[in-house]
Amino acid sequence: MNLLLTGGMGYIGSHTAVALTLAGHRVVLYDNLSNSAQVMAERLERITGVSPLFVSGDVRDTDRLCHTLRHHAIETVIHFAGLKVVGESLEIPLDYYANNVQGSISLLQAMHVAGTRALVFSSSANVYGEPRYLPVDECHPTGVTNPYGRTKLHVEEILHDLARSDPAWRIVCLRYFNPVGAHESGLIGEHPQGLPNNLMPYIARVATGELAELQVFGNDYPTPDGTGVRDFIHVMDLAEGHACAVAYLNAHPGWQVINLGTGQGYSVLEMIRAFEVASGRPVPYRIAPRRPGDSASCYANPEKAHRLLNWTARRTLAQMCATTWAFQSGMGTEGPA
Ligand code: NAD
Ligand code: WQD
Repeated sequence: MNLLLTGGMGYIGSHTAVALTLAGHRVVLYDNLSNSAQVMAERLERITGVSPLFVSGDVRDTDRLCHTLRHHAIETVIHFAGLKVVGESLEIPLDYYANNVQGSISLLQAMHVAGTRALVFSSSANVYGEPRYLPVDECHPTGVTNPYGRTKLHVEEILHDLARSDPAWRIVCLRYFNPVGAHESGLIGEHPQGLPNNLMPYIARVATGELAELQVFGNDYPTPDGTGVRDFIHVMDLAEGHACAVAYLNAHPGWQVINLGTGQGYSVLEMIRAFEVASGRPVPYRIAPRRPGDSASCYANPEKAHRLLNWTARRTLAQMCATTWAFQSGMGTEGPA
């Protein structure tokens, strides 16, 4: 199948490109490189043996998208492109609405004109807000608390309206929990610019010695060891979930929202210990105040993904840490991607 991956040069998009290429699909990566680098294409070729088709462009450029969809006879789009940092979205909300909401509308307009009606959308567990019960299933009420989460929920609602307006549309919104890890080759992975906002890339840079210590945001939560608990999911499991979603879309018109998580929560301290074992390096940390907006515990009920997509996450926490370390420790020779 011919697939367009907007944001396909980024962290989750690149790993999904690997999974889809190895499954025999032809992928076109459409990206403005605002948070990724051209070298990614070469890395993908080294992993898959196939040179990926890359189109440099912004999702707000409807004409360029339309031309790309037609030129490559795209049958399904996976829409990763967007901005994703919760804290930053509070500082520059307009950029978030422009990239995430306006960008999605532009993509949908291009798809409408080009006659492409199948879409997988990268949503986030962020739309649930503070969990009211655990594990969080798709019936859990939404409760966004920041502009980033609101952009995701707005786009989900737009997609739902679109599916209601025209039965030809096939749409799956995937709500990711906490993606971590890297491809087992260590060639691609997550490389945030500047100081990492998320736990796993921060731990990885403490382990290399680039950062002195990790701040553990709160140890007085109502969790077994007092630190925050999250549903960390290996990015290659997540990538394979997209391949399953594409197969599902082939057979099912309409609109679905589906969690992609493992169903298993790990605490911040458990993550630190697992990373120390995987890397053989110490991860010094100190307890700091809670980070505003954080919840104590959040993990998925992944049953719907299993039922509809026949997908279950299967990689372990040890694999999440080992592959992150392989990528992080190899960057001195390979450079970031
Ligand atoms: P990423 O920043 O690594 O990848 C996003 C890619 O989109 C980048 O390559 C960037 O250059 C590109 N991009 C951004 N704005 C664009 C635009 N206007 N036009 C074209 N390209 C553009 O992020 P990621 O972690 O791979 O996330 C992918 C998607 O998954 C995002 O939509 C994000 O909100 C969502 N998501 C991510 C996480 C996570 O923790 N990583 C969790 C839940 C949901
Ligand atoms: C995990 C745990 C922190 C950093 C975010 C977004 C979510 C999704 C995934 C996009 C928490 C603790 C963290 C640190 C720490 N992204 N922590 N020290 O907040 O669960 O989710 O990324 O959609 O929308 O909100 O992930 O990795 O930031 O935090 O103690 O330096 O690690 O308090 O308990 P989060 P995270």
